[in-house]
Amino acid sequence: MPLTTTDPELAMILELARDLAARAGAIQRDRYETRLTIDTKSATIDLVTEVDRACEELIVEGIQAARPRDAILAEEGHGGDDERALYRWIIDPLDGTTNFAHGFPRFCVSIGVERNGERVAGVVYDPLLEERFEALRGEGAWLGERRLRVTSETEFGRALVATGFAYDVHRSDDDNLASFRNVVKTARGIRRDGSAALDLCYVAAARLDAYWELKLHPWDVAAGFLIVEEAGGRITDFRGGPADRTGREVVSSNGLLHEALLEQIEPGDR
Ligand code: IPD
Ligand code: CA
Ligand code: CA
Repeated sequence: MPLTTTDPELAMILELARDLAARAGAIQRDRYETRLTIDTKSATIDLVTEVDRACEELIVEGIQAARPRDAILAEEGHGGDDERALYRWIIDPLDGTTNFAHGFPRFCVSIGVERNGERVAGVVYDPLLEERFEALRGEGAWLGERRLRVTSETEFGRALVATGFAYDVHRSDDDNLASFRNVVKTARGIRRDGSAALDLCYVAAARLDAYWELKLHPWDVAAGFLIVEEAGGRITDFRGGPADRTGREVVSSNGLLHEALLEQIEPGDR
């Protein structure tokens, strides 16, 4: 049985998020490995393509047409945000832009929804694998028809852990490298796959035991946080405090390895 809810408004939101993620994902699939117009944003390594913008326009227009009163925070600046709105959509139209621009097959659409500031719905769609990760508060996390549950690993030495690096990594000393070194030296393996939203979903889907990153943004984590939580995982900031919805400090795990991962994060990165 797939994800469902008895709340009619949340059911409508879930259907809309699924539909928009599928349509944006279809654009990504069509344009994958084709010639792209690519611009830079905050740094020469921070890319945005015409596909990021096209996907965002499609998603934002779809929300505005169906739910004109909802607020929208979208990475490339479309839509109107208002933290006081009852429902707020938080959108990364293409998470993994560097991968997409290089033809590396790891990217997705991420759509999260808050009600009164609380995460209530999340959809992350990987268009190449045609995998849709999704969650509703209290209704579990799902990959298609399969309910997701984090791993039960308790030994950090047997853990597969992912991370990432921010676009200011060339010029900032707050670069995650000391923590990265610690985890390389202690975990079974480490991955830097280039899509924060998929990294979080992979923790939920028991493909990873844990994931951490710094200097992310709300759109990277809005959907993935709920998907991890609903799969029984834990999310905190770098000191073990409540999950930081700005994305500035993200530590997520199966819960059992959480303290062990927090210990690997260097004070300089906190
Ligand atoms: C990026 C990816 C990457 C992470 C970066 C993010 P974008 O998002 O999620 O894995 O390391 O920090 O900014 O720019 O591809 O949407
Ligand atoms: Ca992103
Ligand atoms: Ca993006």
